[in-house]
Amino acid sequence: MACHRKNIRIIHFSTDYVFNGTGSAPYKEDDDCDPINTYGASKLAGERYLQTLAQNYIIIRTAWLYGVNGKNFVRTILEKAKTTPRLTVVDDQLGSPTHTKDLAAAVDLLIEKNAQGIFHVTNRGSCSWYQFAVKILQEAGIDDVEVSPIKSDQLARQAKRPAYSVLSMQKFIQTTGKAMQPWQLGLQDYLESVKARLHTLT
Ligand SMILES: NC(=O)c1ccc[n+]([C@@H]2O[C@H](COP(=O)([O-])OP(=O)(O)OC[C@H]3O[C@@H](n4cnc5c(N)ncnc54)[C@H](OP(=O)(O)O)[C@@H]3O)[C@@H](O)[C@H]2O)c1
Repeated sequence: MACHRKNIRIIHFSTDYVFNGTGSAPYKEDDDCDPINTYGASKLAGERYLQTLAQNYIIIRTAWLYGVNGKNFVRTILEKAKTTPRLTVVDDQLGSPTHTKDLAAAVDLLIEKNAQGIFHVTNRGSCSWYQFAVKILQEAGIDDVEVSPIKSDQLARQAKRPAYSVLSMQKFIQTTGKAMQPWQLGLQDYLESVKARLHTLT
């Protein structure tokens, strides 16, 4: 409300989990939302509430984030690999791993272009969590840990997750004239930037 009063653009981060995951082609910004868990429902409610309060906003739906600060999947896999020779990771949820550094650069671009509205922003391409884990170990040079694919229902987690939550980057590309780099390169950049820290972890 304060931003709206002063006509200050507000940038809000949302998620791929606003979709139900039954699709098979990348979700576009105006595709129907139908969250299947409470997190997705609350994020969608946040998007809609913001839209009732402000006109000058960017809502950025992103996914599968990892960055140099805080906990993330890459770090978890590398930590686990230190203590267990066998990992199991779900292979039936597809998404786009996204390096927060690339996301930050994308946000800058959207600001530069004076963009408004909803935008999907992830690194390019997609994989399953299992494929992501395999790539993480490979890029980190860890070859003595075996990763096996499992199905989500073998994990018996309380909240459901969308099976397919790949986001279309068409609108971002049209607006900025730039494409995001592939997730594999985002991962390499991340591992490079935490290399010093990883050496002390391993
Ligand atoms: N992680 C993902 O894969 C992912 C994917 C799609 C979208 N997103 C969205 O990206 C955003 C960040 O996610 P994240 O995974 O980085 O979350 P996170 O690690 O839990 O970080 C959340 C941050 O928000 C701060 N925060 C929480 N409640 C707050 C409050 N009431 N007032 C002020 N600050 C508060 C926390 O501060 P403290 O550290 O002080 O607690 C923390 O710095 C969220 O909006 C999330 O929905 C994340």
